[in-house]
Amino acid sequence: MQANNIPFLDLVTPHRQLEGELVAVFKQALATAGFIGGPMVAGFEQDFAQFCGTRHCVGVGSGTDAVRFALIATGVKPGDVVVTVSNTFIATTEAITQAGAIPDFVDVDERTYNMDPERLRYYLQALCRVDGTTGRVYNKRLGRPVAAIVPVHLYGQPVDMDPISDLAERFGLLVVEDACQAHGAEYFSRKEKSWKKAGAIGRAAAFSFYPGKNLGACGEAGAVTTNDDVIARQVRMLRDHGQAQKYYHDLEGYNGRLDSIQAGILQIKLRHLTAWNEKRRECARRYQELLTSADHELRLPYEPFWAKAVYHLYVVRVQDRDALQKHLTEAGIGTGIHYPIPLHLQKAYANLGYRKGDLPVCEAAAAGILSLPMYPDLAEEQQDRIAQNILDFASAKTTYQISASAHA
Ligand SMILES: Cc1ncc(COP(=O)(O)O)c(C=O)c1O
Repeated sequence: MQANNIPFLDLVTPHRQLEGELVAVFKQALATAGFIGGPMVAGFEQDFAQFCGTRHCVGVGSGTDAVRFALIATGVKPGDVVVTVSNTFIATTEAITQAGAIPDFVDVDERTYNMDPERLRYYLQALCRVDGTTGRVYNKRLGRPVAAIVPVHLYGQPVDMDPISDLAERFGLLVVEDACQAHGAEYFSRKEKSWKKAGAIGRAAAFSFYPGKNLGACGEAGAVTTNDDVIARQVRMLRDHGQAQKYYHDLEGYNGRLDSIQAGILQIKLRHLTAWNEKRRECARRYQELLTSADHELRLPYEPFWAKAVYHLYVVRVQDRDALQKHLTEAGIGTGIHYPIPLHLQKAYANLGYRKGDLPVCEAAAAGILSLPMYPDLAEEQQDRIAQNILDFASAKTTYQISASAHA
């Protein structure tokens, strides 16, 4: 990489800034040989629960563990259907399948790319039936009961949770938030007339602390947050081979504990999360300002009045995405695509029976989205250069279009 290149993600700078404190965590773990459980895990869990505004946080091995444990602990059973979105990282659906359930999809909102409550309503009303005896909702095509909804706060943008919670209540479904990309994102509940953090809205929520997240460990880590004492206790057992007391196993669980060193590191980084998120929001505001004039074809992220996004990713949408990405790569600017192929069209899910065209909004988005560099230390000059390159690309395209039509 050339010195003046702009990486898609800069994980080196924040670790350099915090190096002394982070190394001290490692030394402390070495001095006490406290590698599993102990005060560092308990301390982080307490701090993160407080940050999210929940009664409990249970540290686990990864975000995938967190989604899986949250689903099992809230009561999803093998053979149940769990409804989510297709434009998420595969871990969301892997965890559903690993809980023994069947993932199914509803399409997303055109502007936020998050679960569209109207499409969920249609799914539950038209594609499902209520069993007269049990009162449970059955998916007509699959012939299986629907147990839960997993909205994903994608890119750090909160899902419109009020209508989803209403539908869940009406149809007797659980809501487990996938907050793996949304540490600190806030949602204004019009119903409750209050702001809530992502992770504090559903029955339980899952977080990933994969290094590139807004709050990232120096390895693998995750957490489940909940206000429910029973769910929290269940997740604590699930992460530790089904035991609450050593060698007394109430159930079969997993090796899914949060590593103590990662917990200590996360506890230190958590103190910076609000400031880091503010910097991300400021970067988003600047992108907005710099790019608004770019081209009517460039769609910028949409933040409704009820959302305070934390911009895990800054995703724009263009018609000529691949050409723009190439143009930026040639200018030394890193970008990403999150995600190029929706899950319902992945080989891994051929068995679910979906076809191209089944979820048109998320399919169209996948063809045009591009994630620009976004991190707290992204400098103004770097943003200026990124924006200038996008503007250049847009105006070159316009010139080309004008001259092409002039010769037509
Ligand atoms: C939306 C979403 N869900 C789940 C996960 C899984 O988290 P992890 O990679 O920590 O297992 C991720 C992480 O990338 C994610 O982005």
